[in-house]
Amino acid sequence: MLKIGVLASGKGSNLQAIIDAIESGKVSATIGIVISNKSNACALLRAQRHGITSIFLDPKESKTREEYDARIVAHLEKEGVELVVLAGFMRILSPYFIKAYKSKIMNIHPALLPSFPGGHGQRQAVDYGVKISGATVHFVDEGCDTGPIILQVAVPVEDDDTEETLSARILEQEHKIYPLAIQLYAEGKLEVIGRKVTIRQK
Ligand code: GRF
Repeated sequence: MLKIGVLASGKGSNLQAIIDAIESGKVSATIGIVISNKSNACALLRAQRHGITSIFLDPKESKTREEYDARIVAHLEKEGVELVVLAGFMRILSPYFIKAYKSKIMNIHPALLPSFPGGHGQRQAVDYGVKISGATVHFVDEGCDTGPIILQVAVPVEDDDTEETLSARILEQEHKIYPLAIQLYAEGKLEVIGRKVTIRQK
């Protein structure tokens, strides 16, 4: 069974969607550990409620980004994590981390990449005036939201949308495509060639 490690900084609603999908048998994986850089992250409580090992690692206790990432990687490796799932983890991973889990790190972004990368993808979409935005699950590379795209879903932007209303509409879709992407990975159906991801229909 695929063992995943989830990194989260906030609410953890994507973590919850993944937990629910695992518990209902839609995703064939187990969560080895949930790690947060925020002591008060709701994601940690969600993990605890489901009996999942969860830890807070304080970035202030590490001198550099690499040193902090090395601590995370050590925990992931100790738990035998095979796939790292970023679920609202508000830190850029160092090249050290990317190398340690090369092509084995996924992220979800609240916009249709390559549009609106970085923070506040939903606010960027509202401010720009696009009619359609969405969510993207992608593998993580050294860049910011630049890795090979696994799944995308389009979400309409309404005239009276605010960052909050659009975020809520996008989040509903995130909760569907993130578990799906993990399941495709667990089934060995994702083939990455260059920056293109093909989903094998086995
Ligand atoms: C989501 O909008 C996700 O796309 C972004 O951070 C947010 C995390 O939300 N990367 P949650 O903590 O999973 O509720």
